[in-house]
Amino acid sequence: MSDTQPVEGRAQNRQTAESMAARQREISISEFFSKNRHLLGFDNPQKALLTAVKEAVDNSLDACEDAGILPTIKIGIQQLAEDRFRIAVEDNGPGIVKAQIPKIFGKLLYGSKFHTLKQARGQQGIGISAAGMYGLLTTGKSLSVTSRTGEEKPAHYYEIQIDTRKNAPQIITDKVVEWDPPHGTRVEIELIGTYKKGRHSVDDYVRQTAIANPHCEIFYTAPDTEEVLHLQRGSDQLPPEPREIKPHPYGVELGVLIRMMKESSARQLSAALQRDFSRVSGRVAVEICKAAGLNPNANPHTIVVHEAERLFRAINGVKIMSPATNCLSPIGEEQILAGLRKEIAADYFTAITRAPAVYRGNPFQVEVGLAYGGRLQSDDLIDLLRFANRVPLQYQQSGCAITKAALGIDWRSYGLSQSKGALPVGPVVLFVHIASVWVPFTSESKEAVAAYPEIMRELRLALQECGRKLATHIRAHRRAVDEEKKKSYIEKYIPHIGIALREILGLSEKAEKQVVVTLKDVLERSRSREHIED
Ligand SMILES: Nc1ncnc2c1ncn2[C@@H]1O[C@H](COP(=O)(O)OP(=O)(O)OP(=O)(O)O)[C@@H](O)[C@H]1O
Ligand SMILES: [Mg+2]
Repeated sequence: MSDTQPVEGRAQNRQTAESMAARQREISISEFFSKNRHLLGFDNPQKALLTAVKEAVDNSLDACEDAGILPTIKIGIQQLAEDRFRIAVEDNGPGIVKAQIPKIFGKLLYGSKFHTLKQARGQQGIGISAAGMYGLLTTGKSLSVTSRTGEEKPAHYYEIQIDTRKNAPQIITDKVVEWDPPHGTRVEIELIGTYKKGRHSVDDYVRQTAIANPHCEIFYTAPDTEEVLHLQRGSDQLPPEPREIKPHPYGVELGVLIRMMKESSARQLSAALQRDFSRVSGRVAVEICKAAGLNPNANPHTIVVHEAERLFRAINGVKIMSPATNCLSPIGEEQILAGLRKEIAADYFTAITRAPAVYRGNPFQVEVGLAYGGRLQSDDLIDLLRFANRVPLQYQQSGCAITKAALGIDWRSYGLSQSKGALPVGPVVLFVHIASVWVPFTSESKEAVAAYPEIMRELRLALQECGRKLATHIRAHRRAVDEEKKKSYIEKYIPHIGIALREILGLSEKAEKQVVVTLKDVLERSRSREHIED
């Protein structure tokens, strides 16, 4: 409004508390995210295509592993028009119970993973319904699901739309269909997108998924080809099953502690601490209560704020065992090497898995793999592959703790060249994985990991360890090349030494030949001796 407008005009537009009250109302989560879809990874058409595929594949892999099934995933992208695609992701997982299908695919914040502390690809309960919502917003088409939970059971086919005002599913079609697979789920979404090759592409995502999940078999059909890319399993071993754990007391926040005590099924404070937290024995629980000046037999439901504060402080003063780490399922050095060898044409490979550590009470574990040389480009920046709970991260590289940690390493001391503030240059693929019961992503789109100090520390240590191994390899390799160069130089001059000796010492031609043969022999023997020492 400009200052020259008449005052009466302004006065007419003035709001009163009552007129404002008439406009104030609840905002549904899906209305919020349909306005802010960039928060969920749908901010441009290329990213939207990748995100939709990724959400479906993440869910398929989680479901298969939870059910103890070696995953076979079929990913198909069909181009319908210049900017319109239909994606289909099918798995051989346990399937989904009929009654759950509408809510899973037609309601944001509905899922099985949010409330459990266990390593999984999904955690928020937004992923697949958001992909369906984006498809609906951009094409008006429903998401379709076919799912079957067993050979004896019928396959159900649903077409679902999300009613964004209510954040509730609308069932468009619901029928029983003929479907061959004995169990599994197939999700199809039509959406506006862009398909590109290269960096950030679905192709890249599929290849990296195969590296980090060598137990998974993938059939992939890109939109520009009839050919099905078959990525075979590199291993028939399912990853060890991660166990669900309870929160560790060290990481708990005051508000959470109060809620946990009020909602506990235990009747006594010490029992509540013991039951609802991990690593709290009866003895530790009593010790905490005593340190807080509270009666261990008090009713936890009636705890008041100042008591909870005392309890909170006491927890941090009592020695409690570190959280159990069987809630994590790292890829493991052997499998990382198998994955890298399967997909990358390098000639040196190394990998390390760090011991688990904890941030804000959440166990996590860092792993680094490195491939060097071979057919990799030596004058480009290294290729940094980032993974969280086995999911490749494609966007927001610079905002990610993994990149920050890699940038903070002095790679020159490990034999690579590096400009200030940049990734090093060299024939290297660097694979970095963080596994956690709760990966602290910087946004709901799960593209980058937040730089908690504990996570940065583990990343740095793991990268340094891999760097040292690389340096040893590069040094040995350079030494061998140098030696070889020197020797071929000497070899070239041996006949000239023979001639010179004949001239200086007046040797016969026969003696000269003898000298040349002897010198070549000595050189050859030094070569084979080195070979043995290697
Ligand atoms: N292919 C599938 N097979 C079996 N269950 C599935 C499948 N896809 C989804 N689900 C179930 O639906 C739930 C919701 O999926 P959704 O992707 O929306 O959220 P999430 O995976 O829990 O978390 P995130 O938002 O981080 O992806 C999952 O928690 C899972 O229980
Ligand atoms: Mg998901």
